[in-house]
Amino acid sequence: MKKVIAMVLSTAIALSLGACTGAGQSASVSSAASGAASAAGEGQTSTTAPAADAVVLKLAFNQSENHPQYKALAEMGEKLKEQTNGKYVIEIHPNELLGSQKDAFELVQNGSIQMAMVANSIVENVNKDFAVLGLPYIYDSQEHQKKVFTSGALDELFADTSAANNGFDVLTAFTAGARSVYTDKPIHTPEDLKGYKIRVMESPTCISMLNYMGGVGTPMSQGEVYTAIQQGTINGGENNEITYADLKHYEVAPYFSYTQHMMVPDLLIINTDIHNAMPDDVKEIFSKLVDETTEREFELWNEQIDAAKQTAIDGGATFVEDVDIKPFQEACKPLHDEVAATSENAKKLYDAVRALAE
Ligand code: GCU
Repeated sequence: MKKVIAMVLSTAIALSLGACTGAGQSASVSSAASGAASAAGEGQTSTTAPAADAVVLKLAFNQSENHPQYKALAEMGEKLKEQTNGKYVIEIHPNELLGSQKDAFELVQNGSIQMAMVANSIVENVNKDFAVLGLPYIYDSQEHQKKVFTSGALDELFADTSAANNGFDVLTAFTAGARSVYTDKPIHTPEDLKGYKIRVMESPTCISMLNYMGGVGTPMSQGEVYTAIQQGTINGGENNEITYADLKHYEVAPYFSYTQHMMVPDLLIINTDIHNAMPDDVKEIFSKLVDETTEREFELWNEQIDAAKQTAIDGGATFVEDVDIKPFQEACKPLHDEVAATSENAKKLYDAVRALAE
């Protein structure tokens, strides 16, 4: 089934690429492996058309152009274009135009597109060690998380992922804030979640987490959540304020309770062949920009939280601030032990992340 979706999507993309030729340039499309030169298409972030022989890195993004990650990536794209004299261009396709994160992940792996922003939980399904980064309450603060993402603590994890030859490299982790539960009533304690089906991202850790928190973890892709709540298939979701507001989930789940249980990152991934095919000078520019953008995205994130909350409040949401998180933290503790015990690497990574909290 997955393969069928990936094939259908690849065909659709190939067709749409063939059909959309930017002004004054050819629509030659080659595989990612041989350095794709594609036409300038919808979602392109650069103000001017890329050079005819430019390598266009098509990047799948599941959220809107307003999202801080989109803005950070658009800035990165501008700089990449400028610093490589137009030879490398990032073309962002937002709003799940290239499919859900799961679909986009497969498209990157098979080289139909070059890059994607995916949730940590997607990559966790290929390399279980990533589960550590998405454990509930593993980061003490945003500062702690920033240290983890920018101190080199994840270099080995990313290198192991490339070495496993699964068709993708992880370039960096972006913050996606802290996630909290939202449903049709305020949630103060794990007991309040009893019998409540709460949508989680599609990974075993996310499901276990929500179960430990007292509810029933129900996995599905982000695009299905609104309707599922509306139809009563689930009772709510859990996410950060920005996604809650952007996707108007407050319309169907008006109580956002600050359980702040998870600061799971999103990962910027690239097709391995296209990454390896970058000339050394481009690789250096690219890697510097990735590091810069990782820091920048934290700033952009923080700039947008208040506005997102206000949008939700104007739409009828109530933010429940006085949640005592300790009982939730206690309830989730066994999951830390379980995940750290899955492998030596997981334990090492767990200890490295926690060591940066001090
Ligand atoms: C966040 C996260 C996304 C993810 C989404 C989800 O918005 O940034 O990467 O897709 O949550 O809940 O699926």
